[in-house]
Amino acid sequence: MKRRSLIIGGATALGLGWLLRPGETGAGHSPYFRDLSGALDKAGLAKPSLVIDRQRLLANIHTLAGHVQGRFNYRIVAKSLPSVPLLGAVMQATGSDRLMLFHQPFINQVAHHFPRADVLLGKPMPVVAAHNFYRQFNGGDFAPERQLRWLLDTPERVSQYDELARALGQDMLACIELDVGLHRGGVSSDQQLVAMLDLIDQSPRLKFSGFMGYEPHIVKVPLGSAQDYRDTAMAVYQHYVDVARARLGQRWPQDVLLNAGGSPTYQMYNEGSYPFNELAAGSCLVKPTDFDLPTLADHEAACYIATPVLKSLDTLQIPGIDLGAVQSLWDPNRARTFFTYGGYWKALPESPPGLVYNSLFGRSTNQEMLNGSRNIHLQPDDWVFLRPTQSEFVFLQFGDIAVYDNGSIAERWPVFSEQAS
Ligand SMILES: Cc1ncc(COP(=O)(O)O)c(C=O)c1O
Repeated sequence: MKRRSLIIGGATALGLGWLLRPGETGAGHSPYFRDLSGALDKAGLAKPSLVIDRQRLLANIHTLAGHVQGRFNYRIVAKSLPSVPLLGAVMQATGSDRLMLFHQPFINQVAHHFPRADVLLGKPMPVVAAHNFYRQFNGGDFAPERQLRWLLDTPERVSQYDELARALGQDMLACIELDVGLHRGGVSSDQQLVAMLDLIDQSPRLKFSGFMGYEPHIVKVPLGSAQDYRDTAMAVYQHYVDVARARLGQRWPQDVLLNAGGSPTYQMYNEGSYPFNELAAGSCLVKPTDFDLPTLADHEAACYIATPVLKSLDTLQIPGIDLGAVQSLWDPNRARTFFTYGGYWKALPESPPGLVYNSLFGRSTNQEMLNGSRNIHLQPDDWVFLRPTQSEFVFLQFGDIAVYDNGSIAERWPVFSEQAS
């Protein structure tokens, strides 16, 4: 090839490449986030904070109630809303005192703060964790023998709980985990179910109280229709109900608890009849980014991480072989650099729009680098907002939640602690 053709070819490729550069996406805060920034400043906050928008939370509760329509009981998934006052607000607005818990110290806190709650475990606990609950339980009106339903997944675990119940002289409610297609454990054969029911039956202290069958896979598996997966899961659920009813006869509990669902799937049961009698959901009330799903399109984001900007630079510089200039030349959304107070949370930048992490510089829990375009004019002490990808662990990392309500931080809600109560 001639030298001239080579030069022309190279220039054309460069020109084409230039055309493929990412478009500029940066902008200033929307009025919503400007108002929220003002509210945080007015409240004297100046550290990474978890914010819940109370009006949006209430709107999400209203949306949920509109779908469930009282056709099923509603159980609040406490792990996804891990704060006593937050749970209290949801319990009050929904009229439900049914909670699903996944962590032993939080069970103790719930028993202490919500003595009328009906608690179902969302996962099977080591028997020692159950023992620790009773050890740390300091009495009060909460009656574990009527209000606390342990989740058991194997005959071995039934035997362990039977032994504990006998040793403590403590009656216990036992719920059985069903595998309705998620394959995260639980009963997966008739023999296993019957063995567990028989062991519970023979125990002087354990009482069978129902089933839990969680089925988020029905909206997540890439191939096939969610309706078909739902119907298959429900057929499995119904089958185990039939097996247990046949085995227990008169001893099938009158007030049996048959739990299913979660945020991603609860709207799959708006119509039709199903073998369960209660639906669990929690995350959809605050809607972290993992819940940006078609089945939750009518829920709104109600939680944000707010964190102050510490430093604002008009360039992007990377230590060592400085590829910052190349990065920002290629991508106009990397023209500027902001360092935030803290970072590396399970969260995605939300506002101002167009902020991006820089994997070349690396992530930091201390001072996180974010890049943005020249349309972003953040200065030190301004706020950056991120959306958690999930609520359960993220909410616990910031101390008291800042409750945003109609333009101001109206309350602070402590989160669950690792201490028992
Ligand atoms: C057993 C069980 N039920 C329900 C849920 C739903 O929780 P959420 O609505 O917060 O997704 C979960 C979540 O992990 C779960 O493990």
